[in-house]
Amino acid sequence: MTASSFEAPSRRQFLVGTCALLGIGLGAALLADDAQAADGVTRKSNGQVEVSVAKVSGLSKVGGAVLLGNVKGVPTAVVRTGQSAYRAIDLRCTHQGVPVRQTGQTWTCPAHGSVFALAGAVDRGPASSPLARVRSSLRNGVLTVG
Ligand code: FES
Repeated sequence: MTASSFEAPSRRQFLVGTCALLGIGLGAALLADDAQAADGVTRKSNGQVEVSVAKVSGLSKVGGAVLLGNVKGVPTAVVRTGQSAYRAIDLRCTHQGVPVRQTGQTWTCPAHGSVFALAGAVDRGPASSPLARVRSSLRNGVLTVG
């Protein structure tokens, strides 16, 4: 192979390659920012979120959870509480409303340290009330939340 066998890419080839790279990067950014991009989770035009529970890997076992992002303005997660039981939970701490974060099998509030069981019960205060439920209904393997 000689040096002359390498040709500079044409303007068209350069543009196609650049657009492909930008597309991959943009796609990854959208997925990272949009929890609803997960398999089995779709947002309806009315703001409800539908979770095809068998398709969401985070819900494959009892005790699993998946974050949905905001559902009608409420930070929400779905927790599998039984073999065919799921609970949608409002992630706002019941002490002063700061969103809790998942820490293994619990939710922990970064503001004052309240800890909640995955299904929402208070494990440690200062919060004294469980995490609220978000309305949800399960039908034909699809949990409609919100
Ligand atoms: S707001 Fe969560 S413990 Fe105070």
